[in-house]
Amino acid sequence: MRRENFLPKSELEMANTILIGAQWGDEGKGKIIDVLTTKADLIVRSQGGNNAGHTIVHGGKTYILHLIPSGILRPGKVCLIGNGVVIDPIALVSEIDQLRRAGVKIGKNLLVSDCAHLVLPYHRALDEQRELRKGRAKIGTTKRGIGPAYADKASRTGLRISDLMQPRLFSKKLQAKNRENNAVLRALGAKPIDHEEVNKNYLAAGAKLRPFVTNTVVYLHDAIKRGKNVLFEGAQGTFLDIDFGTYPYVTSSNTTAGGALTGTGVPPNRIDRVVGVMKAYTTRVGEGPLPTEDQRLSDLLHSLGREFGATTGRARRCGWFDAVASGYATMINGIDELAITNLDGLDTVDPIRICVGYRLNGKRLNVPPSDAVQLDNCEPIYEEMPGWKQSTSSAKKLSQLPRPARNYVKRIGQLTGAKVSIVSVGPMRAQTIFL
Ligand code: GDP
Ligand code: IMO
Ligand code: MG
Repeated sequence: MRRENFLPKSELEMANTILIGAQWGDEGKGKIIDVLTTKADLIVRSQGGNNAGHTIVHGGKTYILHLIPSGILRPGKVCLIGNGVVIDPIALVSEIDQLRRAGVKIGKNLLVSDCAHLVLPYHRALDEQRELRKGRAKIGTTKRGIGPAYADKASRTGLRISDLMQPRLFSKKLQAKNRENNAVLRALGAKPIDHEEVNKNYLAAGAKLRPFVTNTVVYLHDAIKRGKNVLFEGAQGTFLDIDFGTYPYVTSSNTTAGGALTGTGVPPNRIDRVVGVMKAYTTRVGEGPLPTEDQRLSDLLHSLGREFGATTGRARRCGWFDAVASGYATMINGIDELAITNLDGLDTVDPIRICVGYRLNGKRLNVPPSDAVQLDNCEPIYEEMPGWKQSTSSAKKLSQLPRPARNYVKRIGQLTGAKVSIVSVGPMRAQTIFL
């Protein structure tokens, strides 16, 4: 931590901040990033790819960002896609075009790391084939090719943005990759990749991306040296982390705070605070254990038109707030401050349950077991709190929340061990309470 950490809060607000999802993704990171962007100069993605879907509702429009940092909607901010992100260039170009059509200016305010790895069509095809073959044991991926792309990176056989910037070299490397992977795809009974077609499309996308490509590590360090404030925008969530999540039901990157460092080249002593985003309940999209899953709560939230995936449109599985999982997330990420979102989702629920422990084989656990099967066998121990049975969506201050809602927020802070700084009561900027 920087020494400036001892400065008063007003100074700390203007600091380098890592924001991460502290549950299973879709915590409302996009909304909170958009709100915090007023205090930042640079907004940086460091991991994941277009498996992410970050929603921002502003000016009567809903924007869903997949690869571009959520700061792009605010004029004067620089958005940077770091080396740890896996980029599907076609998807990135289409996202840029879509935002431009919606009137968002994209030019010098977007930077893309030359070290970021590429997602190629055979990654998507392999992702799909592997899921198909797993049948009921599938992960429930977004089928964006994320796992196979990170596997290529770790195997040292991936192609990077820097390759794409050298067309002849790229075409040669791509041909070898397509040949090798077509043999696999054929063996799996899947359609092989048309090299010429992919080569043409990727080179065209590469040409469009060229103005944005740079050594983002140097850019970031220069900016930090000049006192600029960086906001690191986590994608996915803690329990989708490749190391700390519910393996194998996870994504393929480090979604926890450390990922922000390795995914950008910014060292730990340049970070001032970590903000964790948690929903006031729990959701998960895709397969894998979710100890507090509750069908009635899922049905209620879905009937309100809530909790459908921003990337795939799938209905999210919903459950009660899990303080065991969230406390563990607070520890792993070093969460200093909490943003609790979607408090309004519980406006009609009474009583409200909070999971304060797990029971496994007759023993009480206060941390989640590492093994997914064991986690799946955990029975939540609940504490109940009275609901507030009224709308919270127009509250502007903590004092305007009904007392049971304030108590609920306070209890989440106590159980997770982090300071609650933000409570969100709706998708819009104005529906944000600062504590
Ligand atoms: P992210 O991936 O973490 O950015 O989250 P998503 O955008 O995938 O999903 C969060 C959903 O909740 C989006 O539809 C947001 O617009 C919405 N949202 C965020 N905060 C709030 C809130 O406090 N109340 C309500 N009603 N919706 C919210
Ligand atoms: P944001 O950033 C929620 C989930 C998928 C699947 C698992 C692996 O919007 O919070 P992948 O395609 O990454 O190989 O899928 O991870 N997943 C997400 N769930 N929010 C996300 O991103 C997710 N990105 C991936 O549903 O269970
Ligand atoms: Mg999302």
